[in-house]
Amino acid sequence: MEKNITLYEHTFLSLNSEYQELIRLAKIASENAYAPYSNFKVGASVLLENGLTFSANNQENICFPVGICAERILLGYTHANYPTVKPLMLAIAAKKADNTGYATVTPCGLCRQSISEYERKFAHPLEIIMYGPEDKVYIAKGIDQLLPYKFESLNK
Ligand code: THU
Repeated sequence: MEKNITLYEHTFLSLNSEYQELIRLAKIASENAYAPYSNFKVGASVLLENGLTFSANNQENICFPVGICAERILLGYTHANYPTVKPLMLAIAAKKADNTGYATVTPCGLCRQSISEYERKFAHPLEIIMYGPEDKVYIAKGIDQLLPYKFESLNK
């Protein structure tokens, strides 16, 4: 079984204002990350189908596995409060641990699985916008582009 995956590469300035605004919100959220152990500050923002946007950031813990990524905090929060509203676009931005600028960040495996759950629930791909160094932006049109052979059925 062969699957092709595609990530689109853009520059920040070539994107329309909807994308730029989500990236801006993710960057602002990264400033407030609680990441005293990794110093890797991640911000995420989401646009819901009702037009509302929300953002969140990673929250670490002295017991390291207790920490939660920005993406899962954000999607958990929005789904808890807007359980019937589709998330359409998710942007991520992270500051390098050495504080020298923005990092190349893609969602971790747990977050990919979590994103895939909301896609499945809403039967709609979630566009994932990954901000990177030098104003580069990578876009995945749905979690299949990041998690092509995902776990998604208890009965197949
Ligand atoms: N992290 C996120 O919040 N999102 C990602 O996409 C990658 C990793 C967090 C987890 C941990 O707090 C820190 O970044 C270092 O892994």
